[in-house]
Amino acid sequence: MATEQDVLRALARIQDPDLHRDIVSLGFIKELKVQDGEVHFDIVLTTPACPVRDQMKSQAEQLVLGLPGVKSVQVTMKAEVRSGRRLGNEKLAPSVKNIIAVASGKGGVGKTTVAVNLAVALARLGAKTGLLDADVTGPNVPLMMGLRDPQLGQVEQKIVPPENHGVKVISIAFFVKQDEPVIWRGPMVHSAIVQFFSDIAWGDLDYLVIDLPPGTGDASLTLAQSVPITGVVMVTAPQNAAALDVSKAIKMFEKLNAPILGVVENMSSFVCPHCSRETDIFGGAGGDELAAKFNVPLLGRIPLHAAIGAGGNIGYPIVASDPGSPQGLAFAKLAEAVAARVSVASTRLLPVIT
Ligand SMILES: Nc1ncnc2c1ncn2[C@@H]1O[C@H](COP(=O)(O)OP(=O)(O)OP(=O)(O)O)[C@@H](O)[C@H]1O
Ligand SMILES: [Mg+2]
Repeated sequence: MATEQDVLRALARIQDPDLHRDIVSLGFIKELKVQDGEVHFDIVLTTPACPVRDQMKSQAEQLVLGLPGVKSVQVTMKAEVRSGRRLGNEKLAPSVKNIIAVASGKGGVGKTTVAVNLAVALARLGAKTGLLDADVTGPNVPLMMGLRDPQLGQVEQKIVPPENHGVKVISIAFFVKQDEPVIWRGPMVHSAIVQFFSDIAWGDLDYLVIDLPPGTGDASLTLAQSVPITGVVMVTAPQNAAALDVSKAIKMFEKLNAPILGVVENMSSFVCPHCSRETDIFGGAGGDELAAKFNVPLLGRIPLHAAIGAGGNIGYPIVASDPGSPQGLAFAKLAEAVAARVSVASTRLLPVIT
């Protein structure tokens, strides 16, 4: 008759594809009960955005059913995002488990579009998600998230972030008069960004996505130096010029010890909205080369599609308005890839369970 030890030994044959370790030593198996040939346990993944979730469940069922004396198996799949924050500044929004910065070397490559769709996709996968617009030069998140003039609540002297599409949002635009240019000097940018963590009631979050202004200016520097970010998602376009600027930004983040989670190639190819034909119109070095050069993964490729731009203009990101479309699915896949990289980062911080 199989014992708990036998069940664990069988389950140890399942490897997590991203973490490259077996699910038993990773501590994924919880609430294991073996009684009269009936086996129950939970598999607690490190992200709800796990693409192999169903496959892992059926593999676990089959392995345990193959043990002598086992009559039935009940596996419950759960997810508990682990914290991938680097050490330093533990007091800054301690209930936020992972801070993901979306950056690029160049303006207009689609950072905000990527940040918004990434946040909404993570929320749709079941993660508690926030989005912070740290673009002091041109805060576009409110428009793209359909939160142009929200009412801000307060609790215990902290501002409550308004929510849309399942994501809590804070933007610098909520605190300055619209249509009035603000001249931000370095120290002001620094204190604004730190306050976005200390003075906002974010509550428990699995992921806080940050939309940065282009380039390697004050906001990027402050973030890398004062905020315990888990990692940076770099957005590039397929032209060579964009890749060059992104290289500079990657080097800056690496110098400041902020890990690069990977590269996203936006406006990868043109998808005709009429005939859906895909055309490679830029043909530059692109994300592939950049990823290879810095030895980081290419997290996703987002096509250039009119619906993506249109969705942004009406405050309805494509992952929410048309999740089943190829462009919606491209963002969902990107969210899975980012979540997997964050799991890897957080697991590196954990001791090995044997
Ligand atoms: N994949 C895409 N397909 C179609 N339009 C896109 C795509 N990505 C971005 N856009 C559009 O391109 C414009 C620039 O995108 P976005 O504002 O996201 O770039 P950004 O890098 O944040 O710019 P900035 O540097 O000004 O902050 C927007 O009008 C957006 O709707
Ligand atoms: Mg932007």
